[in-house]
Amino acid sequence: MSGGQEKLKILIRRAAIQKRVHEVAVQITKDFKGQRIHLIGVLKGACIFLSDLVREISLETSIDFMAVSSYGKGKQSSGQVRLLKDLDSSIQGLNVILVEDILDTGLTLSYLLRVLQQRKPKVLRVAALLDKPSRRLKEVKGDYVGFTIPNEFVVGYGLDYGERFRNLKDVCVLSLPPE
Ligand code: IMP
Ligand code: MG
Repeated sequence: MSGGQEKLKILIRRAAIQKRVHEVAVQITKDFKGQRIHLIGVLKGACIFLSDLVREISLETSIDFMAVSSYGKGKQSSGQVRLLKDLDSSIQGLNVILVEDILDTGLTLSYLLRVLQQRKPKVLRVAALLDKPSRRLKEVKGDYVGFTIPNEFVVGYGLDYGERFRNLKDVCVLSLPPE
């Protein structure tokens, strides 16, 4: 695809993201005071959010990753979730926080919550940088949400369009020319 008429418009600036990530981390630190937590990042989109978040949390923390595919290469959800990479270790009895880049239709999250709940964590919570509640097909909600955003396709700070734009420092709305 040519990059000709793609337009990027900043939606959430780097400084605002940093500030909000710190606030979310402070909340998590309070909620789990004196306990250990286990963060599970959903690859690849959540990797940058998780990297920033974990460094702001003042608790004993371990991390693991899962990879799922729900979108294929473009903007459209296939509605099907495939597990591409499973966890390295058991989560039984742990305080688990699943870290997502964005809650959109909720299909990915509801699948992941079902899979993880079966493994008997002590607590299972959800942290998501972004939430697009207007697109929900499955009723799910984040316990820690960075920003609620309108129904726009966004990229940057880990989020991609066909694997591109993950490295942008700001979260940007991507508009494409009509097909
Ligand atoms: P859901 O299953 O529809 O909730 O989709 C969740 C996944 O779709 C996210 O983890 C993202 O990888 C991807 N996704 C949803 N909305 C966007 C977006 O606006 N930009 C980039 N990726 C998105
Ligand atoms: Mg993606």
